[in-house]
Amino acid sequence: MLLTSLIALGLVASNVEATHTLRFACSQLVTERLDPLVSPGQNPSPHMHQNAFNVTMDPAHDIAERASCTTCTFSEDFSNYWTAVLYFRARNGTFKRVNQLANQNLAAAEGGMTVYYVSPDNRTSSIRAFRPGFRMLAGTAEKRTNATGFINLFRCYDRYDENMFYSPNPMGVAATDTTWMPTRHCAGGIRVNTFFPTCWDGVNLDSPDHKSHVAYPARGSACPATHPVEIPQVFIETIWDTGKFDKSLWPEDGSQPFVFSQGDPTGFGHHADYVFGWRGDSLQKAMDARCDCPQLRTQDQAVANQCYQRQIAEEDLDSWRSTLPGNMPITYE
Ligand SMILES: *[C@@H]1O[C@H](CO)[C@@H](O)[C@H](O)[C@H]1NC(C)=O
Ligand SMILES: *[C@@H]1O[C@H](CO)[C@@H](O)[C@H](O)[C@H]1NC(C)=O
Ligand SMILES: *[C@@H]1O[C@H](CO)[C@@H](O)[C@H](O)[C@H]1NC(C)=O
Ligand SMILES: *[C@@H]1O[C@H](CO)[C@@H](O)[C@H](O)[C@H]1NC(C)=O
Repeated sequence: MLLTSLIALGLVASNVEATHTLRFACSQLVTERLDPLVSPGQNPSPHMHQNAFNVTMDPAHDIAERASCTTCTFSEDFSNYWTAVLYFRARNGTFKRVNQLANQNLAAAEGGMTVYYVSPDNRTSSIRAFRPGFRMLAGTAEKRTNATGFINLFRCYDRYDENMFYSPNPMGVAATDTTWMPTRHCAGGIRVNTFFPTCWDGVNLDSPDHKSHVAYPARGSACPATHPVEIPQVFIETIWDTGKFDKSLWPEDGSQPFVFSQGDPTGFGHHADYVFGWRGDSLQKAMDARCDCPQLRTQDQAVANQCYQRQIAEEDLDSWRSTLPGNMPITYE
């Protein structure tokens, strides 16, 4: 059931509002080589991310109380969401970072991501919003294989204009989404949705692998006994502006030229990280009200866009470069 609703949501983003989902923008904050979850204290971290706040993020600190601004539409959301970054590899072997596009109906955002919180089905009363310090990881940076099930769903847009995306079959579910990086030229961008687990052990705010305190329910099933507490379905949507990389710059054999910052050309290793940071019980209230959501405080996106962080791990973001940041090698398996 959850999976079905996920698919419906993940694939038809513009219809999401009808289904008790918070959908909002969090503009680009910073792009740098930091990963306070997987590589705390390491500056720089092995590969590039967008929007990680700091070198370390102490679980004992409630970021909702420490942050001074947020790039998100909901002004009580100081959570930290970060993802890997997409690069284009030109025919001559050099790399260029791919920017993000603002999403449909959220055009005032400056790149960054769209964040969703879903209350599955009719079981909202048992949905438990996260506690301060809670964090988790979706996806595995090293993964390159085409297994069953998915963490990420990709869509190739043919066109992007006036804040609208066009794909060959916008409402046709399985027809247009893949669990791997699209292989053809996506003139309107490549969208990727990354889904976090929806079941929690109810005790631990984190675990050594940042995954085992949470779980994905088996298809069509409730949360397992080991992880009985239903948490909101969080997923992150990024749209990469791939259109400007003309086919004439692609490898001569026509192969797909995009690669994630961890050296992943397949897309199977795309990943996202989450550190909860809603102020007070604002998220719980929104989940209980199953709203989209007048109870929550918002800020003008132009104000949100002014929230800015200087790079802590300094790195040139816009030049053509001979290797991926951190010299990450490209690996296919
Ligand atoms: C950011 O990280 C540094 C070094 O790891 C730490 O000393 C500092 O307290 C952190 N800042 C916040 C706001 O968490
Ligand atoms: C590689 O190709 C890109 C795109 O055409 C170009 O901008 C860049 O200058 C080239 N780099 C080298 C080292 O030839
Ligand atoms: C949710 O509630 C509606 C209205 O009460 C009902 O029609 C629907 O079948 C319920 N869905 C599930 C999955 O229980
Ligand atoms: C992944 O597996 C599916 C089902 O077997 C197949 O249709 C698809 O082409 C595979 N994708 C890649 C990139 O290997």
